[in-house]
Amino acid sequence: MEQLFVFGKPVEGMSFTDREQESARLSANFTAGINTFIISPRRWGKTSLVKKVISDNKDGGRLYVFMDVFKAKTPSDFCEILANAVFKQTSTALDELWESVKSFLERINVGLRLAPDQQSKLDLDFGLSKETTSLEAILSLPQKIAEKKNVEIVVCIDEFQQIALFEDSLTFQKMLRGVWQNQKNVTYCLFGSKKHMMEGLFDEETKPFFKFGDILYLNRIPLPYWRDFITGKFSSAGKNISEEQIEEICRAVDYNSSYVQQLCWYVFLFSSDTITEEDVQKGIEELIVQNTALFESRTEVLTPVQMRFLMAVASGVHDGFSTSAIISKYKLGSSASSVATRKALLDKGLLAMESGKTFLADPIMGLWLRQP
Ligand SMILES: Nc1ncnc2c1ncn2[C@@H]1O[C@H](COP(=O)(O)OP(=O)(O)OP(=O)(O)O)[C@@H](O)[C@H]1O
Ligand SMILES: [Mg+2]
Repeated sequence: MEQLFVFGKPVEGMSFTDREQESARLSANFTAGINTFIISPRRWGKTSLVKKVISDNKDGGRLYVFMDVFKAKTPSDFCEILANAVFKQTSTALDELWESVKSFLERINVGLRLAPDQQSKLDLDFGLSKETTSLEAILSLPQKIAEKKNVEIVVCIDEFQQIALFEDSLTFQKMLRGVWQNQKNVTYCLFGSKKHMMEGLFDEETKPFFKFGDILYLNRIPLPYWRDFITGKFSSAGKNISEEQIEEICRAVDYNSSYVQQLCWYVFLFSSDTITEEDVQKGIEELIVQNTALFESRTEVLTPVQMRFLMAVASGVHDGFSTSAIISKYKLGSSASSVATRKALLDKGLLAMESGKTFLADPIMGLWLRQP
């Protein structure tokens, strides 16, 4: 039986709703060869969107490469993940993969060890040196393959913000931009779970990725889509949920896609045929319980003033943190230290900005903080 509500992993098919405008824009960018940054708060659906658009466009003549660089700690790691993904996802058969690897790597002259496993899969171990020439050679692979195969290639890189943590990250960012912007037949789609870090890669003129491409900001999935989606799921299992209850669920989690599905699952679990107000409340409580350990570990490292700042935001203060009224009410020290505290919490990913105002990055953390 298909899972009713899916959360915590990318969704597709019957577990996926809306994203019509974003899908159309991303498809158009892929077709036109426009690089894209996708930006959204955590768990709103970036990875799911990219996977869906790739799968919708699979037959369009382009080749798509999807990779996740979360585990990359160095430029060499990054290049190794890239080379593996590019070779494997642009070759249709094992023989072709072998040929492709051999012909390209002879030319680019990097130390290569091929380790074919028993399942006739290949793992490419490049034993990469840190020499700039080798890294640049690997980065140029997508364009070389595109030329040889006479196709356009779209490379989608998830958790791209990790490159900001590399030692001497700026040098590597400059290298990436330098190589990528000259690739005529390759388009890049860059996104990641840490919004603040992602934005930090291109938010100033001095940054290598400034104006690298289109910036696609994901919106909240609007209520009418959730209404149809949630009503359909409940009724397919013989249960009744009202429009008001659906709206309450969406609002309680501030339309965070993952939390909407997770909360629906708890409400479904705790209810009988007709959903009651009590079922919704129990679902919300369960969502808080499920996250409590995480919230505790993320806040126990905070200083008392950082904690008071979070409490201020949780109680509904979204701007004016340097005014004497807010500073004295929440004991935030001086105006300068209030600014510094806010920045530290933004950098930690605990706070987020929306329309110039400051909010908790995680809507359930707000419910948790406000608990008596
Ligand atoms: N289009 C969608 N329709 C319904 N639910 C969705 C959709 N997109 C995302 N979700 C919900 O959000 C969850 C997280 O999705 P996904 O992993 O794609 O988000 P993300 O933005 O990539 O997350 P992260 O910020 O952690 O990288 C999914 O498991 C699902 O519950
Ligand atoms: Mg993701």
